[in-house]
Amino acid sequence: MPTETERPAFPAPRVDPLDPPPIYTRWRSDQPVLRAELRTGEHAWLATRFEDVRTVLQDQRFSADATLPGFPLLRPGLQRSGRSTFIRMDPPEHTRQRRMLTREFMIKRVEQLRPDIERIVERFLDEMDGATPPVDLVPTLALPVPSLVICLLLGVPYEDHDFFQRCSREMVDLSRPGDAVMAARDRLRDYLAELVAAKRHSPGDDLISRLVTVREADGELDREQIISIALLLLVAGHETTANMIALGTLTLLRHPEQLAALRGDPALAPAAVEELLRYLSVVHQGVPRLALEDVTLGDVTVRAGEGVLAVLPSANRDPAVFPEPDRLDLHRDAHQHVAFGYGAHQCLGQPLARVELQAVFTRLFERFPTLRLAGTGTDLRYRDDMVVYGVHRLDVTW
Ligand code: HEM
Repeated sequence: MPTETERPAFPAPRVDPLDPPPIYTRWRSDQPVLRAELRTGEHAWLATRFEDVRTVLQDQRFSADATLPGFPLLRPGLQRSGRSTFIRMDPPEHTRQRRMLTREFMIKRVEQLRPDIERIVERFLDEMDGATPPVDLVPTLALPVPSLVICLLLGVPYEDHDFFQRCSREMVDLSRPGDAVMAARDRLRDYLAELVAAKRHSPGDDLISRLVTVREADGELDREQIISIALLLLVAGHETTANMIALGTLTLLRHPEQLAALRGDPALAPAAVEELLRYLSVVHQGVPRLALEDVTLGDVTVRAGEGVLAVLPSANRDPAVFPEPDRLDLHRDAHQHVAFGYGAHQCLGQPLARVELQAVFTRLFERFPTLRLAGTGTDLRYRDDMVVYGVHRLDVTW
């Protein structure tokens, strides 16, 4: 049995804000599967190597059902809610609900949205152009682009963005007490419940309306399930992509030679986005699972009932898969990365996120060729305490 001294605290501290905690390098080579103490005081295994992370996320002996006793929670004070969304469910219910949405997020379908997404990017870049620098890039571009895109897709009125952007932010803030997080979730649920009811009477050409008019009408989903799905998509659609935009911009500004390569060759944008996803791994807190039976992982046996966290930033810097993993190289083939997870729960919204990120990183630097940080960058506040990593604000000038 490992001793207490062998149970480090997780998450570990970063040193360079754009790199994962340096201790991950040692864990990957010396103790790739290790027991750690979480914020809740509970213990869980950490999987730090690329292959082990993929095993945890793909092997059905690891459950994603957060209502099971022993499931590792990322923050203290959260009750295990019976009203789960499918991101925290196992087959067959997970498969059934996810399948109802896959058409909406198919690459072909999302490609049809590309012109609309590009227009949305242009609209917020126009507004930025009309403002007097310096501006904070987070509320000017990084948050509104994914917010408006997901609103159009779901059929959520963008006028209410102050309200739901605030609720989403509070829901992913690990420094807030559990009851404040649940209160934010309840406010957003109530809002979406009203919206679902309204769409029952006057449906539009949007995802929530289709769930109501087709799936609810057929008895495949009930009202609560539709609200849960809308909540998951709204929050997931905001927080992740917004932080990739702000942190990705900062990263490119800090790597001028890489930025110059992207500027000189817009065809590099898809590869550049994959590399930024790998390098930054904004879902940084560990993706939780619970062992349903004893499973051998690397050199250890994870017992049934024990929790495991798949540490994505560590897997994405594994030198066994990505040579010189700590070097940002927009020309590398990074497509294998696990920034979107892996296995049955791999990100449903990834085609959408890719199109948004490609459009932003191409056009932002074309339209603002002299874009730079407004200050020295030493006073930036990073989102260490949030489920999704990033910067709280990013003041830029041009
Ligand atoms: C750069 C942006 C994004 C990143 C890095 C990201 C990352 C992830 C990760 C790591 C997972 C797996 C979680 C797990 O296995 O427990 C996930 C799942 C998911 N993501 Fe994303 N995501 C992004 C954008 C989006 C967008 C734009 C949407 C929605 C429109 C979305 C919707 C979802 C959904 C619904 C799931 C759950 C899938 C399932 O359980 O089957 N994501 N995402």
